[in-house]
Amino acid sequence: MNVPLLDLKTQYKTIKNKIKQAIDKVLEEQKFILGKHVTFLEEKIANYCNCNYAIGVSSCTDALLVSLMAIDIKPGDEIITTPYTFFATIGSIVRLGAKPVFVDIDPETYNLNPKEIEAKITSKTKAIIPVHLFGQCCEMDLIIDIAKRHNLRVIEDAAQALGAMYKDKKVGSIGDIGCFSFFPSKNLGGYGDGGMVVTNDEALYKKIKMLRVHGTEKKYYHKFVGGNFRLDELQAAILLAKFKYLDTWNKKRGECAKRYDQLFSQANLLDKVASPCVRQTNHVFHQYVVRVKERDELLKYLKTQGIGCAIYYPLPMHLQECFSYLNYKKGDFPNAEKAAKETLALPMYPELTLEQQEYVVEKIKEFYKK
Ligand SMILES: Cc1ncc(COP(=O)(O)O)c(C=O)c1O
Repeated sequence: MNVPLLDLKTQYKTIKNKIKQAIDKVLEEQKFILGKHVTFLEEKIANYCNCNYAIGVSSCTDALLVSLMAIDIKPGDEIITTPYTFFATIGSIVRLGAKPVFVDIDPETYNLNPKEIEAKITSKTKAIIPVHLFGQCCEMDLIIDIAKRHNLRVIEDAAQALGAMYKDKKVGSIGDIGCFSFFPSKNLGGYGDGGMVVTNDEALYKKIKMLRVHGTEKKYYHKFVGGNFRLDELQAAILLAKFKYLDTWNKKRGECAKRYDQLFSQANLLDKVASPCVRQTNHVFHQYVVRVKERDELLKYLKTQGIGCAIYYPLPMHLQECFSYLNYKKGDFPNAEKAAKETLALPMYPELTLEQQEYVVEKIKEFYKK
């Protein structure tokens, strides 16, 4: 049997006609930049996240960059965040000349540990970027409380978590700004790059909208130095066609996660395979990540058995070559470093079948019997 890490082709077969119609509509209209599909998608996502405003952008990388630009991040400013994330979270900080200041993660959820934030705040700290990793929201009450007491902005990196909740709130709506990704593998994935910024702050909304088009409101009159951070119409039309399935797909991911948990338990593997720790009411399982001591050997074995798996992420950000000037060293964030050695993402997508999951668990059992 073949069980890929992600199977976009199977999903495409279920929505093919709708996607083709959506693309055709844009082609007939011949309006490719900031047309009505982008506006409709912004309205849908704002509404979905219970936010007043949404701005479609070119990627989540650019969503993070434009958000930091909007809150006036300057060289020398410090931003507190996690070392256990995708590069874009940190890259966007550094591109503005600001300094990422890391706190270690909670070893169970892999999200940044809010209890370590306060000790890292200095007079230069301007913002906190919590990353809702793998589809589960961070401990936002603690983060918001710290931010309020120290007058810091909060930008949620919700690239992996569209639809996830924290208590009764949707991710993205809890801090000052929320950033989402529509990279094809995401829970709501386009057929190319795309992203979205959400906020309840009117001033930030207006500024981000201008920054998206080189800092203009009126064409050729530039109030700020922005960039070309636009989401294009074709992607917006595709995303609109897919958006109506998001909650169903997220629900199916949750069901697949429960099934994995049960299968690991039935196979008596729980002492060897630590399944994800679910703390928040609505984890959207962008990834189903287990923790195993023999990670690299298991990964190799599963690949030989036709099972796709991946490591998110093999090297934490504080140990990346390009950030060596920050002078962090091995051992600074032991939980992140240990997670980077022990975590393994197993196949996860809404269309994953029970038979495929049984096969994955059977092969893991076989690995431990060897
Ligand atoms: C946590 C996180 N932040 C930011 C990004 C960047 O998103 P994009 O690929 O849309 O630029 C990603 C994408 O994988 C991500 O996982």
